[in-house]
Amino acid sequence: MPKRDRNDLISLAREAAVNAYAPYSKFRVGAVALGADGLTYTAANVENAAYPSSNCAEAIAIGYAVSQGVRKIDEVAVACIDAPSPEAAYPCGRCRQIMSEFGVEEVHVSAGSGTMIKSHPFDELLPHRFDL
Ligand code: THU
Repeated sequence: MPKRDRNDLISLAREAAVNAYAPYSKFRVGAVALGADGLTYTAANVENAAYPSSNCAEAIAIGYAVSQGVRKIDEVAVACIDAPSPEAAYPCGRCRQIMSEFGVEEVHVSAGSGTMIKSHPFDELLPHRFDL
């Protein structure tokens, strides 16, 4: 399995975003979790008329990987194809905590056409994280 670079991961996230179910926010997000097994697990956000019942793309992608037996996720890439800039597409606090649980080390964020990618070591996104 070739090592996936961040451009590959963002491409997969962008493809996933096309399947987002986001009729309320019109903010289509795709995410990919790169497992320690070298495989990629993609998902998109899925909204609900009862807004708090919506789920972020990252949470679903990580849940998908974990439900396939993955316990360590090396990297996550997220792409919002409707956001004007990566600054508007960063993972929410809940998703950061979910990433923390499975040892994510690096996060890549992109928006719009995906030309600009911002990458961060995970500690930069969630310093002093809660863990047991
Ligand atoms: N959303 C994500 O899927 N990931 C993020 O990083 C931020 C927000 C979704 C949730 C909701 O469906 C929509 O984007 C607007 O908040």
